[in-house]
Amino acid sequence: MRFVALAFSLTLCPKPLMRPTAIETEIGQIPLQNCLYNASGARCTTGEELDSLARAPTGAVLAKSATIAYRKGNPKPRYRDIPFGSINAMGLPNLGIDFYLDYAAAFSAEKPLFLSVAGLTTAENHTLLKRIQKAAGVGAVELNLSCPNIPGKPQTGYDVAQTEHLLQGVFAFYDKPLGVKLPPYFDRVHFDQMAAVLNRFPLAFVTCINSMGNGLHIDVERETASLKPKGGFGGIGGLYAKPTALANVNRFYKLLDGIPIVGCGGVQTGTDVFEHILCGASAVQVGTSLMKEGLACFTRLGEELQSLMREKGYVRVADFKGKLKSL
Ligand code: DHB
Repeated sequence: MRFVALAFSLTLCPKPLMRPTAIETEIGQIPLQNCLYNASGARCTTGEELDSLARAPTGAVLAKSATIAYRKGNPKPRYRDIPFGSINAMGLPNLGIDFYLDYAAAFSAEKPLFLSVAGLTTAENHTLLKRIQKAAGVGAVELNLSCPNIPGKPQTGYDVAQTEHLLQGVFAFYDKPLGVKLPPYFDRVHFDQMAAVLNRFPLAFVTCINSMGNGLHIDVERETASLKPKGGFGGIGGLYAKPTALANVNRFYKLLDGIPIVGCGGVQTGTDVFEHILCGASAVQVGTSLMKEGLACFTRLGEELQSLMREKGYVRVADFKGKLKSL
């Protein structure tokens, strides 16, 4: 009888929610049933979008970067699919922190909800985090040090001293899981300098990378830029960003003293996910592919990753995480 019950549960039953999967992972202390989830900014601003992400086969739901007040964002067109990726100059359109806190308090999916915070000043970031610290239902916060689209506001992550000052202020009061999202770096010394600062703080994770800031895409027929805001300058995502993303994941994986890395940038296939993990990512976010393909990308990417893992004889993410070999 017991055998029959077991056979039934193994063959006919839908997967119990907590059954281990080949692509489960953890970001430090945070367990995820699936190593894939959405990048902040991609289809994650409204309640409907967040509900859809909560139902998708992902390990977490990450909300759009929030400011204290609702922001309409920049004039449209402010996002474009382009041949090998995307360009955006959204300008932080979001519903304001109250909306995301209310959403978190009511969130009941079997996966964590992460909030993203992008205050335009140090004081605004502190206010946002003080509000989140008191709130229920927030699995972790991704502090955005890398929004490239606010005229007059440089990306904090390109200023090492400013980043240190901000994190000192934050960790003076914030004691819940908090990670940072970095811009891409292109110089070995900049990796070293930023890693030295990050290692001074109890970060739950570091996400590499945000979009490559201030690219320009041209609409040749109209002889204009493809985007309206900022003279057409916008953050570049997708395949254009993949080699830079992998370099940032791998460099920070080596330089950070055990702070988990979340990879982001250029994930179009399960092989891309595998490469991020091989470079050291504990989990992998999907931005441009989610914009282009919709939620179906997660089923496809998960299947492609698992089929590559089977081919290579890997049973779990930990079998190849960070195991990039030297030639
Ligand atoms: C926006 C873009 C980003 O790359 C980011 O990290 C945060 C916000 C935006 O323009 O809305």
